[in-house]
Amino acid sequence: MRLNTKRFISAILITSFFIYSIVIYTTGTAVDKGKDYITEQSKKGRQLFQNKNCIACHQIYGLGGFMGPDLTNVISSPGKGAIYVKAFLQNGTLRMPNLNLTEEEKDEIVAFLTYTDKTGVSPVKKFKINYDGTVNWKGRDEKGN
Ligand code: HEC
Repeated sequence: MRLNTKRFISAILITSFFIYSIVIYTTGTAVDKGKDYITEQSKKGRQLFQNKNCIACHQIYGLGGFMGPDLTNVISSPGKGAIYVKAFLQNGTLRMPNLNLTEEEKDEIVAFLTYTDKTGVSPVKKFKINYDGTVNWKGRDEKGN
């Protein structure tokens, strides 16, 4: 290969590298879709969620204990929602302990779960892999699948 051709190819590669780097570092990604739901109340709810160790039995984004169900989208799941969550917190069940939360604390937990609900979908059941390896999830259908 002639020296000029080599230089030409190198120049193209180096320029492409810089353009690619600039594009990668300047394209914003919406990291936290739930940021509008971060309030004092939801922060307290998160703290409570940690203190009461809900994660020992439940999952958020599929991570946690597996005794109870994933709570990421419990607020928007069909047939569930804030009142449903509060009902569980009110008395517990045979398998879930009654954590004796006050009315205010229950609202804080609901605020935290409303926030997690906006941040993503878990478990992801419908997704599409793009040509570049990134993944788009489509949310849930009306049946919650
Ligand atoms: C000892 C384990 C345990 C702990 C700790 C626990 N849970 Fe549960 N929870 C369960 C189980 C098990 C269920 C499923 C209902 C059943 O089988 O009785 C459940 C059900 C629920 C549900 C209903 C979910 C659905 O999709 O139907 C909610 C909401 C919930 N728990 C919230 C919480 C929150 C918030 C905390 C912490 C404050 C918590 N739980 C702590 C075991 C637990």
